[in-house]
Amino acid sequence: NIFFKVFSVSIKHFLTLDSLSRSDLESIIDRALELKNEVKNGNFEATLNNRVLGMIFEKSSTRTRVSFETGMAQLGGHAIYLAPTGSQIGRGEPLQDTARVLSKMVDCIMFRTFEHERLKQFANYSDVPVINGLSDSFHPCQLLADLLTYKEARGSIENKKVVWFGDGNNMCQSYINAARIFNFQLVVSCPEEFTPDSKILKFSKENTSLEHDPFKAVNGADLVVTDVWASMGQENTQENRREKFKKYQVNSEVMSQAKNNALFMHCLPAHRGEEVTEEILEGPQSMVWEEAGNRLHSQKALLEFLLI
Ligand code: CP
Ligand code: NVA
Repeated sequence: NIFFKVFSVSIKHFLTLDSLSRSDLESIIDRALELKNEVKNGNFEATLNNRVLGMIFEKSSTRTRVSFETGMAQLGGHAIYLAPTGSQIGRGEPLQDTARVLSKMVDCIMFRTFEHERLKQFANYSDVPVINGLSDSFHPCQLLADLLTYKEARGSIENKKVVWFGDGNNMCQSYINAARIFNFQLVVSCPEEFTPDSKILKFSKENTSLEHDPFKAVNGADLVVTDVWASMGQENTQENRREKFKKYQVNSEVMSQAKNNALFMHCLPAHRGEEVTEEILEGPQSMVWEEAGNRLHSQKALLEFLLI
């Protein structure tokens, strides 16, 4: 019975950054740094020997899939990829059935889906930890990598100014959570029509503000972040969005108003010439390749945290 299960067993899930405390998140980031050094030295400790991660993708992926799969291999375990088509969930087998069946076989489940509710429902029926591999509302795994990347490059993010450009989407909403948890100031610069969820904004109001003028927003920024203007599932609105988002492009004019040592991040995939210019994406302030690589180390640390 689901009521009994939800209230009687405490399984650690990672559905949003708020699933864990600040100190847990910090210890994951510190452990990721250790694991990254181990990989550099070619030394792999099999802390998850024989453990299996099931990965369900209802949307496409490159980074999330490869980082989890490589991560499990390096930790001595194994990962199973269930594609958007070809599994029974893709043919309509109920989520709660899939969750209970997979829980009998694997030690952890990563789920990439559309509505965040689906992820919550899945987690309610899972006997093993569930990781959000991206929902329409949040992308907490990417934030672990971004926070690790910032820490390596510049140290603590506390009290820094971070500016988000573009859509108030899943990545933006995870940044809003991060601003509250890690106490940095986030300015969201987006068209009026594409602001993040008002409840999420309100919950982090001490750390987040909206500024629709991109030049005012970016002034003095330590970190500038953006993402695609049309996320997966919104492809049919791409044309319409291109016009509305134009003034929120991250280009050299915008970056020149940030601090001299400001960094640029993007979760990728990027659309050059839309949300960011080639010059910035490939320029000296861009952290995007390191950031993508850090998905591996931060998620290995997350898997250890949830499974050991
Ligand atoms: N950033 C990110 O999650 O990339 P993928 O869609 O390739 O997994
Ligand atoms: N906002 C993007 C992120 C992709 C990693 C999307 O949801 O498609």
